[in-house]
Amino acid sequence: MTRTVYLNGDYLPETEAKVSIFDRGFLMADGVYEVTSVLDGKLIDFDGHVKRLTRSLGELELTCPIGEGELLAMHRELVARNGIDQGMIYLQITRGNPGDRSFLFPDASVPATVVAFTQDIPNMIDAPAAKTGIKIITIPDLRWSRVDIKTVQLLYPSMGKMAAKKAGVDDSWFTDEAGRVTEGTSNNAYIVKGNRIITRALGNDILHGITRAAVLRFAREAQFEVEERPFTPEEAKGSDEAFSTAASLFVMPVVEVDGKPVGTGKPGPVATRLREIYIDEMRRAAI
Ligand code: PDD
Repeated sequence: MTRTVYLNGDYLPETEAKVSIFDRGFLMADGVYEVTSVLDGKLIDFDGHVKRLTRSLGELELTCPIGEGELLAMHRELVARNGIDQGMIYLQITRGNPGDRSFLFPDASVPATVVAFTQDIPNMIDAPAAKTGIKIITIPDLRWSRVDIKTVQLLYPSMGKMAAKKAGVDDSWFTDEAGRVTEGTSNNAYIVKGNRIITRALGNDILHGITRAAVLRFAREAQFEVEERPFTPEEAKGSDEAFSTAASLFVMPVVEVDGKPVGTGKPGPVATRLREIYIDEMRRAAI
């Protein structure tokens, strides 16, 4: 089945959706994005994603050409037209096509480019990796210092994924100048010690994960202690468990850090339980 995608108000076969070579998303990585997961054909935490999108756009003085109601309708339309039961919707808004290359932002009369498409992932809930856990390496965080804005500048995260692949593992976690973990290439990072879940506090140096917010809320409700502070790869290696969260992963156990097993080297009870709670609760609240 040819995928139907969204481009500036139109639903088109993916082969017919075309964007200008002068689009600032293409030339300058001048744009933001969101990834919303879909379970049972419904949207997970859509409100959270729209709130973060609005914040990202505001930080870049980018005017959103499409209202929240319209965004929701469009997401639902894409799910329906593509018959998605489990998967993701990628939404991208860039500063559009000013007709030439210039470092200056064009004036507001240049419309933003809005693109969205679905990704069909039938085994998101039963992801094989969630059963085995994933292995990660740590590498220096060489991204710019406003990674709280969800921009489409994903070159360094891509390099981080490639470094992981070359090392024969699944992902990379980034470390700051003091050697402490910031976050994963496309996910937030956690360790578990006894009843305590430790993850870096919100700031400009991590993306404010929508999954992170929900998982920490559920963790507190389930009587876990949550400590928002940085941790080092060394501390991760000596922890009972580790895990990553993202809309694309939910809660994903991390069983090896820089070649050393974490805990038993198998997915632990805390990450497993949080994954179950997250999926149950979010499925119930999906719209
Ligand atoms: N990535 N940190 C980074 C750097 C991310 O790119 C992401 C999401 C997260 C987790 O955020 P959330 O829980 O809101 O998905 C943390 C998306 C999934 C991606 O780029 O595909």
